[in-house]
Amino acid sequence: MGRDQWKSQMGFLLAAVGSAIGLGNIWRFSYMAYSYGGGAFLIPYLTALFTAGIPLLILEFAVGHERIGSAPLAYAKIKRGWEWLGWWAVIFVMFGIVLYYMVIVAWCLDFFIYSFNFSWGNDPDTFFFKDFLRLSDSPFRLGGLRPPIVLALAVIWFVNWAIVFRGVRRGIESANKIFMPLLFILTAILVVWALSLKGAALGIEAYLRPDFSRLADPQVWIDAYSQIFFTLSLGFGIMIAYASYLPPKANITRNALLTAGINSGYSVMAGFGVFAVLGFMASSQGKPISDVVSQSIGLAFVAYPKAVSLMPGGEIFGAIFFLCLVVAGLSSSISIIEAFISAMIDKFGFDRKRLITLVSILGFLGSLVFTSRAGLLWLDIVDHALTHYGLVVVGIGESVLVGWVFDVARLRKHLNSISSIGLGPVWDYIIKYFIPLVLGGILLADVLSEVKRPYGGYPWLALLLIGCNWIFLTLMGAIAISKRKWRTSYFLSAK
Ligand code: PHE
Repeated sequence: MGRDQWKSQMGFLLAAVGSAIGLGNIWRFSYMAYSYGGGAFLIPYLTALFTAGIPLLILEFAVGHERIGSAPLAYAKIKRGWEWLGWWAVIFVMFGIVLYYMVIVAWCLDFFIYSFNFSWGNDPDTFFFKDFLRLSDSPFRLGGLRPPIVLALAVIWFVNWAIVFRGVRRGIESANKIFMPLLFILTAILVVWALSLKGAALGIEAYLRPDFSRLADPQVWIDAYSQIFFTLSLGFGIMIAYASYLPPKANITRNALLTAGINSGYSVMAGFGVFAVLGFMASSQGKPISDVVSQSIGLAFVAYPKAVSLMPGGEIFGAIFFLCLVVAGLSSSISIIEAFISAMIDKFGFDRKRLITLVSILGFLGSLVFTSRAGLLWLDIVDHALTHYGLVVVGIGESVLVGWVFDVARLRKHLNSISSIGLGPVWDYIIKYFIPLVLGGILLADVLSEVKRPYGGYPWLALLLIGCNWIFLTLMGAIAISKRKWRTSYFLSAK
């Protein structure tokens, strides 16, 4: 049985871009830019992109392509003892990140529908937290599931199932060929529309005003590196799996540069739209811009609903905005599921259709906890644990594995023999020394600040029981699965 393959390199590129562009690009980037020095934030952001993001993206593409396998298979083919690292990535992604990621996409679907008649009335804040989420006051008080969220969640999981079920070429590639152009067109409409609103310039001014003094704060740099890592979907085993479906001759380095460029370009462009709307709101309410800006979740589900209610034709604007989030989210969530599915097929030779059906049902059930009244609190804790600790550790692990255990120069030779853009030895140094050091520094800084002050002001018990346990259980699962025997012949073909 041969492995799946993309129909075209364009299909691969669109899928990689689809994974990279997600919920995070639309509001997380804009908010970060705003609070971390506006235009000046581009300095740490681009530094992180060039010194860690692009080199690691090239590494993930190269490993998947040269070793021909999903993360666990590729790592096992480098050294059997490292297989667990690949499993850990795909397991905490499948039984962690994607579970709550889908729930946020489900909120967006609900809000897409609510846009048509402004269901949030004139108090979107109360609507979101009290009526929609019915947020409970403690992670330990789940208080029942929220029917509108469960319903939307079922739809979202169904769409994911339907796409991944059809396979790499007919499912993922075809879906992204529709999703990506659609997303670009919708976003362009929003940005042009937003820029034409009264007061837009006020928002753009706040978004871009360079404040170089912010750059002296190490936190800005740490967050820039984490943002790059997350936004390029690195450390999840996704890019490894996607690259393993490329034909032997593929222009890897160029595709990595394009993926990174399009992803960051999209973020910057979306930022113009987001801030133009905030500027419009500030000027129509006669408030300073700092009063209308809020972080991530508040921005999408409170500030935006408020703004579109004030806008002529706001129903359509709101609907397009939430549709963009749904599309961006779907193209990312299918990539997460594929990373896991492809690993299981590589190792156990399961039938894709049966496996994806089972995994989708389990995933849907697992997501349910995030639709409870304590859902947002759980989401926040699990997200913090997995993205701050799981991801960073996997990133360090993969650069050590490739840089020190495998021969990074050999991988570079492989890349240079098939890519139109040549890589110099500086890439080896970045992988071997720079990335482990930077990520190690981030990890240390995170641990230190955590010890000083529990994350988000949650009780320690909640952080330990939910956050730490999630890390621990997924790690145990990864180790257990890596000990099982390989049931396919892929592993034997290792050179
Ligand atoms: N890159 C996506 C974003 O910026 C997030 C993502 C995370 C995608 C994990 C896939 C996996 O939103």
